[in-house]
Amino acid sequence: MKIVITGSIAYDYLMFFPGRFREHLLADQLHTISVSFLVDSMRRQRGGIAANIAYTMALLGGRPTIMATAGQDFGEYRTWLEKQGIDTSGVVVIEDEYCASFFVNTDEEQNQIASFYTGAMAHANELTFARYAPDANLVIISPNDPAAMGAYTLECKQLAIPYVYDPSQQVIRLTAADLLAGLTGCALLTVNEYELSMIQEKTGLKEADILTRAGGLLVTRGKFGSTILVEDRIYDIPAVSPREIVEPTGAGDAFRGGLLRGIQLGLPWDVAGRMGALAATYCLENFGPQGHHFTPAEFITRYREHFDDAGALDILSH
Ligand SMILES: Nc1ncnc2c1ncn2[C@@H]1O[C@H](COP(=O)(O)OP(=O)(O)OP(=O)(O)O)[C@@H](O)[C@H]1O
Ligand SMILES: [Mg+2]
Repeated sequence: MKIVITGSIAYDYLMFFPGRFREHLLADQLHTISVSFLVDSMRRQRGGIAANIAYTMALLGGRPTIMATAGQDFGEYRTWLEKQGIDTSGVVVIEDEYCASFFVNTDEEQNQIASFYTGAMAHANELTFARYAPDANLVIISPNDPAAMGAYTLECKQLAIPYVYDPSQQVIRLTAADLLAGLTGCALLTVNEYELSMIQEKTGLKEADILTRAGGLLVTRGKFGSTILVEDRIYDIPAVSPREIVEPTGAGDAFRGGLLRGIQLGLPWDVAGRMGALAATYCLENFGPQGHHFTPAEFITRYREHFDDAGALDILSH
């Protein structure tokens, strides 16, 4: 089963300011603000939702395909993704742009000042499955340029490719009409609790209405686990307690990577969901959305410390 992952590809630039922003923001001078913070550490980290999801899927042997746009600074990122077992043939480089870039400066009180530059992502709506992934069996439509998310939804319907609709962070930007078009006819809608409330508020749909339009619904609830509602059944997926939480970015993406690998292998929903939960926990225990690592064998062993898969996961080690 060929799974095609769409969404952003980005670099995150994480800076740390050894001071307090509020001491340098003069309330009576905000109309003429001009401040520069001398930061004493910066790291550039691979990120972007499509790459994050693909990364976890690849750890589990899934060989996903990414369809996305990236910038002239993508070269080493592509090499690295390919090395992880990700097919990047559907990643198109926009030569006069940079990859989407997230710049965030954190001060010693954990306050943040951030900017997100869309860069090459603004061209994502120029890509089509017909051209870059004609043999897709399942697509996930994750946060991306809003126009691209709409176009991909439409094309999946036209080509009858089943898709997971994963609006996540972009719920804020998408209109009620966008959200309705995306979730109506999707195979699965994936959201966290907060995003589900926002969708309900924007569209006026109740959960039951959503379920008549979408093939299924995954709602994640942080440390309280998640629920998958599909085929008139409810699967409660417990969270796996992390040994320590190093940094929470990307847990939701790792969950989707694990879940998609389970779906790809044809595993039952309760097993696929638990694969998502365990993958998310690995992510929490490391820095960044692609900082975790495990072999399929290690994953199976840890899964079985918590859950009984009745041997279903043996397929992962083949
Ligand atoms: N503190 C935690 N302890 C254990 N598991 C967690 C914790 N936080 C998240 N998870 C796991 O990750 C899954 C997704 O988390 P969450 O609901 O916070 O997603 P999210 O808000 O979309 O995250 P993200 O910030 O990555 O977008 C949860 O269902 C759970 O399995
Ligand atoms: Mg999320």
